[in-house]
Amino acid sequence: MKHLLKMLDLSTEEIIEILNLADQLKYEQKNGIPHRRLEGKTLGMIFQKASTRTRVSFETGMYQLGGYALFLSSNDLQIGRGEPVQDTARVLSRYLDGIMIRTFAQKEVEDLAEYGNIPIINGLTDFAHPCQVLADLMTIREHKNKLEDLNFCYIGDGNNMANSLTVGCLKVGMNVTLGCPEGYYPDPEILEFVKQYPDNFKIVNDPVEAAKNADVLYTDVWASMGQESEAEMRKIAFKGYQINDAVMASANPECMVLHCLPAHREEEITAKVFEEHANEIFDEAENRLHAQKAVMVMVMENK
Ligand code: CP
Ligand code: NVA
Repeated sequence: MKHLLKMLDLSTEEIIEILNLADQLKYEQKNGIPHRRLEGKTLGMIFQKASTRTRVSFETGMYQLGGYALFLSSNDLQIGRGEPVQDTARVLSRYLDGIMIRTFAQKEVEDLAEYGNIPIINGLTDFAHPCQVLADLMTIREHKNKLEDLNFCYIGDGNNMANSLTVGCLKVGMNVTLGCPEGYYPDPEILEFVKQYPDNFKIVNDPVEAAKNADVLYTDVWASMGQESEAEMRKIAFKGYQINDAVMASANPECMVLHCLPAHREEEITAKVFEEHANEIFDEAENRLHAQKAVMVMVMENK
């Protein structure tokens, strides 16, 4: 594995390899076993959008692996003043051992990978959030002891999370149902991809119907970063697309609830359901650290 740009690029075997390594690194961390597998390596972290989890988990993860992480805000970089990504990639490749980037256009991440010659990790774009999905799959496997044949249901906006979860869950053998309003379906590239899984994927408009027999329920904000000006309009479009008691009642009794965070209580999820499943949701947040450490080791070790 050279980069982590999107879930579409990963094979099932690569996903499982990342999850297994993440479990091992988590075990080592919890048991005080040193795992300085990136001693002397430097990761540049470019942020064009806000972040709590991604920034702190990458920075801490790199430290635990014996390396160093450099926070690069786009406000301070020349990229924020129009220096082409092609030039930025070639320059940063001369200093760093890897780049994590959070930005808007997926093309920017793909361009960094094309023009630079160091590993690129996508820390969220408008199209994809693969680091989050790897942590999500790790968390589901921890709680359910398997992935294959589980019923996964995502309720809400067909956004970067829906795109990446759909691909990741299908690739590991889960059944995926999306409960999205008309007009807010995932990216066309994802809708093309799911055609390979006619028996394992469906989209419905009714959230209660979507949640039927779910083993895992997932939701995300109605307005993603960059969509702030549409927030009020989106509150109307997504009204009812909420994980609440009615949706929970439609799911299987032991159904997990996950949320990538930050969460907006009483919008996409009720405070009650959130708190009843806080344990799972904060395990999920913790697992960002372990899953990303696995990704960094896989793309940066021995390079
Ligand atoms: N879930 C997630 O990526 O969180 P941050 O935006 O805080 O990094
Ligand atoms: N869909 C959200 C995910 C945040 C982690 C966003 O892009 O803002």
